[in-house]
Amino acid sequence: MIKIEDVISEISSILTQEELEKIRLKYIGRKGILTDELSNISKLSIEEKKNTGKKINEIKQRIIEEIEKRKNEIKRASISEHAENSIDITLSGKPLEIGKIHPLMQTMDEVKNIFLGFGFSIATGPDMEKDYYNFTALNIPKDHPSRDIQDTFYIKPMELDRNSQEEIVLRTHTSPVQIHVMEKYKPPIRIIAPGRVYRHESVDASHSYIFHQIEGLAVDENITFADLKAVLEIFVKKMFGGEVLSRFRPSYFPFTEPSAEVDMQCLICKGIGCSVCKQTGWVELLGCGMVNPKVFEFVKYDTEKYTGYAFGMGIERIAMLKYGINDMRLFYENDLEFLKQF
Ligand code: PHE
Repeated sequence: MIKIEDVISEISSILTQEELEKIRLKYIGRKGILTDELSNISKLSIEEKKNTGKKINEIKQRIIEEIEKRKNEIKRASISEHAENSIDITLSGKPLEIGKIHPLMQTMDEVKNIFLGFGFSIATGPDMEKDYYNFTALNIPKDHPSRDIQDTFYIKPMELDRNSQEEIVLRTHTSPVQIHVMEKYKPPIRIIAPGRVYRHESVDASHSYIFHQIEGLAVDENITFADLKAVLEIFVKKMFGGEVLSRFRPSYFPFTEPSAEVDMQCLICKGIGCSVCKQTGWVELLGCGMVNPKVFEFVKYDTEKYTGYAFGMGIERIAMLKYGINDMRLFYENDLEFLKQF
């Protein structure tokens, strides 16, 4: 009689369904070994018939089970082999996170594009400035409060050049770019200068020691305050919407004369008065004015022939007003949940 252990080890070495079928036929098919043995028991005595028949049927049952088990194993192996070699195009893909421009840079780009549309070009200057460019040539005298160590980051000249006696600062505004441009080019000039600026300030909801400005400068014959007013009024409407009102309020900057600040109607309360505009209905937007002839003297422009206007605005401030954000720090914290909204 066949030994079940031998059959089991034979089955477990089989690798294909076809071979497995051959094994099935070999043992339990119509002409199989077991079927044959079963038909031979008729020659035995009744007692032997019973015993041998039972044994053969047990072996047959066991072989059926083993074949079924092996069949499933072969099937599983072939599925996983198939999966490794092919791509299931019906599976949904992993969503791709798409990067975005930071809201401050988006705002910067919007402002830039508006002025590029007016015919302005883009100028740049260094973040580290000589005292002369950041202050002196802009008619900010030695005793002016904004030179105070409280507001300005001074860089030890020794760290840059041991022989230099010139004081170096991190620029506190983008206005020094005005000087660089006028030293280099003759009028007519129409430039904007976007960039980072630095002030010795502690961080809170509306202050940062590093922020962004866009400077504007136009110099030509016959430029008047009306030109400045027109350009900035149209800018406000393009930036914040055609129905938004703006107003000019007298102010003071050493490098412009006369000077003004532009306010716009509070977007939150539409001019009625709320906590954002401190109940005035207006919010401060930017500083501007007609270029002070003293500045022209520093760059050797003919003050009889040329006039000009300049303006400077804080990008953080504009972005906060535009998107209704009440804390500047949100721009710097890189919280993706915040940034993804823009
Ligand atoms: N530089 C000024 C500031 O930082 C803004 C300004 C620029 C004002 C140009 C007038 C003209 O506040």
